[in-house]
Amino acid sequence: MEQLLAQIEQLKKEIAESAVTDAPSLEAFRIRFLGTKGIVKNLMGEMKNVANEKKREFGQIMNEFKQFAESHFEQWKEQLEAGSAAAGPSIDNTLPGDNLPLGSRHPISLMRNHIISIFQRLGFAVAEGPEIEDDFHNFTALNLPEHHPARDMQDTFYIQQNPDWLLRTHTSNIQIREMEKGELPLRIICPGRVYRNETISARSHCFFHQVEGLYIDENVSFADLKQTLYYFVQEMYGKDVKVRFRPSYFPFTEPSAEMDISCQICGGSGCAICKKTGWLEILGCGMVHPNVLQNCGIDPNKYTGFAFGMGIERPALLKYGITDIRLFSENDVRFLRQFTAAT
Ligand code: PHE
Repeated sequence: MEQLLAQIEQLKKEIAESAVTDAPSLEAFRIRFLGTKGIVKNLMGEMKNVANEKKREFGQIMNEFKQFAESHFEQWKEQLEAGSAAAGPSIDNTLPGDNLPLGSRHPISLMRNHIISIFQRLGFAVAEGPEIEDDFHNFTALNLPEHHPARDMQDTFYIQQNPDWLLRTHTSNIQIREMEKGELPLRIICPGRVYRNETISARSHCFFHQVEGLYIDENVSFADLKQTLYYFVQEMYGKDVKVRFRPSYFPFTEPSAEMDISCQICGGSGCAICKKTGWLEILGCGMVHPNVLQNCGIDPNKYTGFAFGMGIERPALLKYGITDIRLFSENDVRFLRQFTAAT
């Protein structure tokens, strides 16, 4: 009994002198003193060896010792909890970060940016405009008065008949809006989404993307138009590309032309893509019609200009070897992921 009491005194001294400052040592203390095989339990087990008349006294001393150990444990625990709450949630700065997968640009955006960058080098500025447009900016100002049969060239989604709202059929509406501002000379490139009421198939869709361009100044000629577009296709398809202009008709340009390039798939010898002609049609163009200038408050006797418009889907199909235009809008990540490395 004397020996046991001395041992308890010794242990109390040890507890009183120790400082527990972290969770692992608190847990070690709990296991050593208060655990199922801990010191308190063991000492309690000594009860059977204590003489009967001393059992009561020993029991009291043991209870005290147990409370002494438990109160120290509780105290340290509270201190630790208060300390970690004050320090905020524990953050391990050495852990590796969350791995965010790198996104990819959509092929239409890649092609649009490529086209824009070529014209920017020639001093064209990017201009944008509304996709929901009024009749005037999409048609009438472009020399396409109401009931003009040429409106049938662009089958249109009308939103409301009065006032006449529609989904723009081309980005020429931007050109009208820019001309209306009256700041000349004007040299703009107009990218954007356009809508036409067409049956969806592998080759056509009810919405697609365009880049149109406009240059207005004094003495702008058809030679400027040809040279600008020739520079563009050389930058886009390489120096060996051949071009040809075919007479065409657009109500907003006079004269008007379609520009073809030598087929980039077969090199001009004829294949399925170019329908055995050796040529691919890539854009429409022409000299801005005097009526259009006048509709926008520009004096056609002083100023002339050229305009052109091209789709983005077709050159993207060619560049990336894609065979179905619907892939561009289905958002299938297996398709989109392939453009991660493209620039
Ligand atoms: N706006 C025409 C279209 O979408 C393209 C074009 C623009 C043609 C400018 C000539 C000049 O069909």
